[in-house]
Amino acid sequence: MAVVLKHAMKPTLNAEDMARQRFVSGLRVFVLNDLASDMRQAYDTRLVPSFKQTHGREPATGAEVHQLMRMDPAFTTYSALRVTAQKMVWDSVAPVVKREQARVNEVASQASAGKLTTNPAMPIPRNVSAIDVHFMPGSYVGAGGDDVSPGATYDQGLAVFSMGLMGANLDDIGLSMSAYVSRKFPAFKPKRILDLGCTIGHNTLPWKQAYPDAEVIGIDVAAGGLKYGAARAKLQGVDVAFQQMNAEKLDFPDGSFDLVFSSMFLHELSLKSIGRVFAEIKRVLRPGGLMLHMELPPNTQMGPFEGFYLDWDCYYNVEPFYKAFRDQEPRDLASRAGFKPEHYFQFVVPSVGSYGDAAVSEAIAAESHAVNKETTGRLAAGIQWFGFGAWQERAQ
Ligand SMILES: C[S@@+](CC[C@H](N)C(=O)[O-])C[C@H]1O[C@@H](n2cnc3c(N)ncnc32)[C@H](O)[C@@H]1O
Repeated sequence: MAVVLKHAMKPTLNAEDMARQRFVSGLRVFVLNDLASDMRQAYDTRLVPSFKQTHGREPATGAEVHQLMRMDPAFTTYSALRVTAQKMVWDSVAPVVKREQARVNEVASQASAGKLTTNPAMPIPRNVSAIDVHFMPGSYVGAGGDDVSPGATYDQGLAVFSMGLMGANLDDIGLSMSAYVSRKFPAFKPKRILDLGCTIGHNTLPWKQAYPDAEVIGIDVAAGGLKYGAARAKLQGVDVAFQQMNAEKLDFPDGSFDLVFSSMFLHELSLKSIGRVFAEIKRVLRPGGLMLHMELPPNTQMGPFEGFYLDWDCYYNVEPFYKAFRDQEPRDLASRAGFKPEHYFQFVVPSVGSYGDAAVSEAIAAESHAVNKETTGRLAAGIQWFGFGAWQERAQ
């Protein structure tokens, strides 16, 4: 089901727009649930037995599963339809964004005033500028400048793409993560919070709602998305500031944040960039501060089939860094940046939208932090989110 946005920049959809977007969302539900389950069945009943006959064992890695599945009709049907549905997500919102471009730019210019700092001279990194990330036309930047169309495209596209699993305001990740942190660490009261790669700030806003006294800043390299996000926040009455900045080179002093967060960000960076981003996080965190990332769960903590399933995006959805990131152990990424191993933690939090608010407290109480291979990070019914973090050492 496509989400109907509720904030003041929401588009006016005609019957044809609505039918098109609902169809695409429904197609994604069909592909990611029904066809995915057919593919799993083909794997268990056809492909594993034949692999075992040849090799005397089951496939051991995601790469082996991928190799095995490639020529199977259950996979080619799933994959072809999933690519088609992905492209249709953007096609289904493009005419609406174009039609409303002048109005939305006007509203965004007024509503973002005072809450947006751009840096037009800043080079856009090639992981954003050189490819149409997940087939989004123009990637996060569009034609450049401060036209907010890339922000509107992302917001409306995510509403179709998410099939209702990210909530009515597309903020389920931020809501679930901030609920987890505020309940798991009740003594931790961050006064300054930074969200890296925030796009339109949809998962930034919940941090301000969880910690109303904190100053919350979202940064991204893409100005159009930030401007849209600044207006989106203002129009929803949430006081968050947005700055155009590269997370690999932050314009903030040492020790100036209590919490540095990111969601769905690291998998769009090369491993070299991740190293530089982690070094910057380490630098800007205060003693006793927290680095926290919501991400896809790592291959090391999943079975071969589930690893293959999530890595699909790397091969077929213009997400070139996805697998290299998922092949890392998050604990090692943190420790390479200088976070002590004993200060690292990871967790799985139930989506508040899917399971209800109480489920977060129950998960904390049960200390059920292991990755569930079927539901963690998989955008389908029963979704749970994976997170990991590390505390900055306290001053001696
Ligand atoms: C998948 S989106 C993240 C979306 C959002 N955080 C969420 O919770 O859904 C990745 C974002 O990272 C931004 N980005 C990529 N490289 C960056 C960098 N080096 N510094 C800051 N932002 C970057 C992109 O412009 C894009 O908006």
